[in-house]
Amino acid sequence: MSKNLSNLSGRKGLKTNLFEALGIAAEATGTPSKDKMEELAAQFLMGTANIFGATSFYDFLRADNKDKKVFVCNGSACMTAGTQDELKEKLGQHFKEEEIGDMCCLGRCHENKAFYYAGKNYSGDAISELDEIKSGAAATIDNYAVGSFGTAVLTKAYSNLKDYYKTLSIALSKSPEELLTQLTVSGLRGRGGAGFPIAFKLESCKNTTGNQKFIVCNADEGDPGAYSDRYLMEQQPHAVLLGMMIAGYIVGADTGVLYIRAEYPESQACMQQAINELLSEKILGENIFGTPFNFNFKLIKAMGAYICGEETALLSSIEGQRPEVRVRPPYPTQQGLFNKPTVVNNVETLACIPDIIKNGGAHFASIGKGKSTGTKLVSLDGFFNKPGIYEVDMGTPLDIVINELGGGFREDIKAMHIGGPLGGLVPVEKIKDLSIDFESFAANGFLLGHASIVCIPKGFPIIKYLEHLFAFTAHESCGKCFPCRIGSTRGFEMLKKAQETDYKIDSLLFNDLIETLELGSLCALGGGLPLPIKNALQYFDKELKPYFMQRDTLITAS
Ligand SMILES: Cc1cc2nc3c(=O)[nH]c(=O)nc-3n(C[C@H](O)[C@H](O)[C@H](O)COP(=O)(O)O)c2cc1C
Ligand code: SF4
Repeated sequence: MSKNLSNLSGRKGLKTNLFEALGIAAEATGTPSKDKMEELAAQFLMGTANIFGATSFYDFLRADNKDKKVFVCNGSACMTAGTQDELKEKLGQHFKEEEIGDMCCLGRCHENKAFYYAGKNYSGDAISELDEIKSGAAATIDNYAVGSFGTAVLTKAYSNLKDYYKTLSIALSKSPEELLTQLTVSGLRGRGGAGFPIAFKLESCKNTTGNQKFIVCNADEGDPGAYSDRYLMEQQPHAVLLGMMIAGYIVGADTGVLYIRAEYPESQACMQQAINELLSEKILGENIFGTPFNFNFKLIKAMGAYICGEETALLSSIEGQRPEVRVRPPYPTQQGLFNKPTVVNNVETLACIPDIIKNGGAHFASIGKGKSTGTKLVSLDGFFNKPGIYEVDMGTPLDIVINELGGGFREDIKAMHIGGPLGGLVPVEKIKDLSIDFESFAANGFLLGHASIVCIPKGFPIIKYLEHLFAFTAHESCGKCFPCRIGSTRGFEMLKKAQETDYKIDSLLFNDLIETLELGSLCALGGGLPLPIKNALQYFDKELKPYFMQRDTLITAS
């Protein structure tokens, strides 16, 4: 069924895009009207239920959010920093309670107290300037440290457009096969979490026959604590665009789609400005640099749903379908956007391509450690003395990131949640054993993920953090499979009840729940939640024991 819907949406393609039309329909009143949904259903030959099903999924299209005027970041970093209550109280002096909503996460983890108002993000001390903000006067620029340790690939200073795009001109003088070989040699693996080699994906898409192919940039950076993609979009946008263009040339795609999350309005504006710069320099469109290569971009503004970062849900979202995760195979490179061959890559992965093509795959492969080649951006939250975005060679000891680059913790910290909500919960005593690369994290029972670090201070109860993770998953679950849809809610209920009453969690039941989530979930939202939970049960068993029925050990699942 969803394949038919993909075809129906694809009839109008990206120019008259259904998802975009839903966003426009919501602009005036906060949610598309019933009449408008019926009109769009008729226009796209779909059922009204399909349109309603999609609309009701998103935080910024849903009817129950339509009267909200200001949104408080409810991400993990703002939560552990403990800034949300005070922020809500201060906002309450200017807005009615029903006008204040939640958003996750605004990527202002370096200074917290983050909120969204009238299409802009604010954080840090901005709350004290609310009168000016409401009158439209205050600036929204936030400051965070940017640095590198080792080779600066992604944080290198940008020269100018003409200089920078010489790499494209050189790339277009070579064959797609030659470029693909360089990417294979580079060993570049996806930075969005799974670490899949980009060259395999590009090769698969290149080898799939199709009259239309797409390069999709996954800019839905939804992991609370991560803001490295935001950094790239706002400060290095041309690395992302050039990476997409080279990828397009390799596979034979003439369209690049940037799917950028609603919570990053500034990133959307920066990327659009960079696209406009290319248009005015005629480095987009037909016959770029006098070659047969044609390429254009389409920027899609997302509407607030974490699961849209999962690549197949993201494709359904662009098509205006309810963003439920798709069963693979077929893989997107075979049947992706509108059922056409599509490459989906993370912002940071794509931004590495220009350097590889300019300096050669071997140079990139010489940086890093083992199968983790190149560099990685790491996001540090407000618990560091020098919070910010740091680029490190893969293989850099975690201790250097924390103590040298980040300047150490400014408070007593007991654990760090590294790699997003599905990443591992790393107790501070493990810092010495870890380095920033895929293998080190996996070997120690954690996950590098997108390499964001959210600190959990000594005084913050681990059980409360686990409750937050279950609540997050329950809110963001696409609902396609029951272990995640139901299991996340049951887990949340158990943890909440154990904190609020004398109820004790049965560890056998809890372990059954975690095992079912891990083994029975279709995607890594439900399937990945057990990792930080198991880490917590292993490393914080003493702290958690009072909430469980007495057993020798809290972990019984394998
Ligand atoms: C629940 C969930 C959320 C995800 N969110 C993101 C995201 O925000 N950004 C991203 O690049 N990848 C995200 N991914 C991974 C994508 O599905 C996909 O693997 C990635 O975009 C591929 O690009 P890469 O190979 O360059 O990493 C997510 C996966 C899951 C299961
Ligand atoms: S694990 Fe959750 S988010 Fe993933 S497909 Fe199943 S219900 Fe959807």
